[in-house]
Amino acid sequence: MTRVRIAPSILSADFTKLGDDIRMLEAGGADWIHVDVMDGRFVPNLSFGAKVIETARRCTTLPLDVHLMVVEPERYFDDFASAGASGLTIHAEAAPHLDRQLARIRELGCAAGVALNPSTPIDVVADVLDKLDLLLVMSVNPGFGGQQFIHRAIDRIAQARRMLDAAGCAAVLEVDGGINRQTIAECWRAGASAFVAGNAVFAAADPRREIGELRALCAQTA
Ligand code: DX5
Ligand code: ZN
Repeated sequence: MTRVRIAPSILSADFTKLGDDIRMLEAGGADWIHVDVMDGRFVPNLSFGAKVIETARRCTTLPLDVHLMVVEPERYFDDFASAGASGLTIHAEAAPHLDRQLARIRELGCAAGVALNPSTPIDVVADVLDKLDLLLVMSVNPGFGGQQFIHRAIDRIAQARRMLDAAGCAAVLEVDGGINRQTIAECWRAGASAFVAGNAVFAAADPRREIGELRALCAQTA
């Protein structure tokens, strides 16, 4: 039975009380904390870096699932690994040397992930599956929280699922962007098992409960 992982994104947290928000997510049953790093170059927005990863690391024992929306991501691997990242996910569009960079992420003791923008063919990772721990299919154009789910992502998740299964690759298939009560079950049925949710969790009346609600929607359609 595939394990569902709910990974709330702290991009939507209240930064005046980031520690409280992270502890709240853990108490609500989050599996991972998703950390969105943006550099204002790969994506048209800036967020945060090693200092926030280090802060998050001090607030929770949950894995920190760090999503690097940056150019030249290799410049940050050492600092982010030392800051306590559990996984580092780099964008294929920003990383021409995926084979080398995934190997380096694993060398640092982190799970190695590749993220794909909505317009990037899934099979760009076909030849690095042996070095891949996580494949992240973006269901929005990265850069901002609270955007609308791009429905084409469902077919892309299904295609990624087929590719991973055919290769016997155990990488976790994650989806990010516009995940909420209306979209999560379809992504689960298509073959994703890890779900990033920013706005859906933090804008909910009861964010803690929302984590369980999202998880339950996957279980119901198992
Ligand atoms: C988008 C980020 C996402 C974002 C998700 O650029 O990678 O992780 O925070 O936010 P929601 O769930 O609000 O779409
Ligand atoms: Zn993300």
